[in-house]
Amino acid sequence: MSDKKAFLECDGCEGKIELAVHSGSVGPDSVDITRLYAEAGLFTFDPGFLSTASCSSAITYIDGDKGILRYRGYPIEQLAAKSTFLEVAHLLMYGELPKVDQLDEFTDMVMHHTMINQSLQRFFQGFHYDAHPMAMMVGVVGSLSGFYHDSINMRDDAHRHLAAFRLIAKMPTIAAAAYKHNVGEPVVYPRNDLSYVGNLLRMMFSRPCEEYIVDPLAERAMDLLFILHADHEQNASTSSVRLVGSSGANPFACIAAGVASLWGPAHGGANEAVLDMLEEIGDASQIDKYIDKAKDRNDPFRLMGFGHRVYKNYDPRAKIIREVCLQVLEKLADSNNPLFELARRLEERALHDDYFLERGLYPNVDFYSGIIYRALGIPESMFTVMFAIARTAGWVSHWLEMLDDPKHRIGRPRQLYVGADRRDYLPIDQRA
Ligand code: ACO
Repeated sequence: MSDKKAFLECDGCEGKIELAVHSGSVGPDSVDITRLYAEAGLFTFDPGFLSTASCSSAITYIDGDKGILRYRGYPIEQLAAKSTFLEVAHLLMYGELPKVDQLDEFTDMVMHHTMINQSLQRFFQGFHYDAHPMAMMVGVVGSLSGFYHDSINMRDDAHRHLAAFRLIAKMPTIAAAAYKHNVGEPVVYPRNDLSYVGNLLRMMFSRPCEEYIVDPLAERAMDLLFILHADHEQNASTSSVRLVGSSGANPFACIAAGVASLWGPAHGGANEAVLDMLEEIGDASQIDKYIDKAKDRNDPFRLMGFGHRVYKNYDPRAKIIREVCLQVLEKLADSNNPLFELARRLEERALHDDYFLERGLYPNVDFYSGIIYRALGIPESMFTVMFAIARTAGWVSHWLEMLDDPKHRIGRPRQLYVGADRRDYLPIDQRA
């Protein structure tokens, strides 16, 4: 809390309304409007929350104008270069990088909760063979709510943390089972002696009839993508998790809400949409035509993987991913990958176009991530699922932070009502 104040004058208000201003540790101050309705009879109107801080949080800091992203103070570039996904998950959940014994304990906790109940396996059979894996994720993650009655007292810190570990641990198992259902292969059980990502790759790609050796390049590339996707402060899916959780809902139901929100093409579904778009564009000769379509207000086409609600300069994750993409494709002897080449030409063309420059539209994290996933053999329909696994670390950290905050209240936005005023019911035969 700072001593700063903001003052609001409005028609019909008596004098100036004094509002407190809160300062965070870095970043813009926030005007506290919690008493505005009580004191002035006014709501604020901010569709899409463009200017509204819905909570205070100590987890992730973003400066969209400067292209800064930090988890618990650590720049994303340093974490991407030096850390691992589970270390980052510890950082997000507990606020500090772990010491050796803490990381061992954290890894053990995650890797000893990877199994899912055998009867949960049967849920997958209820889905059509070609059901989208995100549909299975929403359903199966939510249905975990019916299995863990030993950890549902949300006032108990140990229960909350157990639920968080279970979620981080079981997401890869559920994701791989959804994939196996799609491709008609038997489910592969987790192997807890592998790394978090190595275990996921094995559950997805091994078959009972042959040996599977985790490729270290694929393991490192995917671990890095997971670090970059692990958290992004109050985005749509994290805000969904917080909103659902604010009512005291079961943690597995909260994360299922996050998965549902992430699925949309304006959010986590973008990397899938980027590959569809690149395939639709086809080759470099068509780039100008599609750039014109993206700029045409009357055409619903948008450059997928371009633009971001917060980053209006560049997305620091996109820079890292572009380099990894090149390394992965070079090592896989696929550096002439036509989609990557097309993506690079499209990016270059858009970055020289005033339409995109004036609006601050730059490649976002998902412009290149789909190309990497495809090079690693991950099918398109699983891209958003990969994102959901990584983001679970962020979701549970925000959920824990919210429940730890003694001031947290049920989320209940207000509205500007624009519908009909009071009118009387007419019997059906008297209606015009
Ligand atoms: N292609 C063409 N024009 C665009 C694009 C785009 N990808 N994105 C925004 N614009 C234009 C809009 O038409 C608008 O133009 P106008 O001022 O002439 O009306 C202007 O840029 C501002 O766009 P908004 O939609 O108001 O920006 P907002 O911050 O609400 O949207 C969003 C951000 C949803 C990410 C948007 O840029 C988009 O749809 N991008 C494509 C989808 C995508 O890549 N999503 C992934 C985001 S990253 C993530 O979730 C992990």
